Amino acid sequence: MARVLKDYPLIGLKPENLDGKIDFAKVFGRCGPVHIEIGAGKAAFLLNQATAMPNVNFIGIERAGRYFRHAVDRIGRWGLTNVRLIRTDAADFLAGSVPDGSVECFHIYFPDPWPKKRHHKRRFFCSANLVNLLRCLSKGGCIKVATDHAEYFEQIQNLLTSQPDKLEKVEFFPTAGADTGEWVGSNFERKYLKENRQIFCIAVRKT
Ligand SMILES: C[S@@+](CC[C@H](N)C(=O)[O-])C[C@H]1O[C@@H](n2cnc3c(N)ncnc32)[C@H](O)[C@@H]1O
Repeated sequence: MARVLKDYPLIGLKPENLDGKIDFAKVFGRCGPVHIEIGAGKAAFLLNQATAMPNVNFIGIERAGRYFRHAVDRIGRWGLTNVRLIRTDAADFLAGSVPDGSVECFHIYFPDPWPKKRHHKRRFFCSANLVNLLRCLSKGGCIKVATDHAEYFEQIQNLLTSQPDKLEKVEFFPTAGADTGEWVGSNFERKYLKENRQIFCIAVRKT
């Protein structure tokens, strides 16, 4: 029988309660660097990374209700106090709720590739979302991306290196929560590594 997922109201933020730009210090009850994961899935990356970096305030954005509920339940059971999750569309969240220069790192791991050409317009990586990622990043802040999809990776790479005066390519170091042989330690990475798929990674820094 499926386990009943528990709700943790302090962890799962309600989009309807967000009024304008978020005050992250208020949300976490402390000041600290903010990292945002876009498309958190069932939150394996957040569990590992937030445990490894307790000084960082993590926000996970997840659009799908069942993944969001799993993620809230897992973070709550682990007793992590430095993670908040929000069920919403990442593009809307960035545009409406994230203050300028407030984010030290965006983590975007295995974004939906929407492989059919007619669906490419649904991909997260596009010029409009890059404008908001750039606006929200602090100076020196990073965007880290991993995917198994070669064609989408090429598009992502072209986009992220299209403004060398604003974003410079830097080495992609494995994240603090990754196990040996992993780059990020997310659910999808673990699944794809088992299938021996190639993983493509890129990291860029705001100059
Ligand atoms: C392929 S899964 C990867 C999940 C996780 N990052 C991992 O590596 O295991 C992509 C996730 O991104 C979520 N997602 C896709 N587009 C999104 C959007 N615009 N806003 C928020 N979540 C999104 C999907 O619901 C899905 O859970």
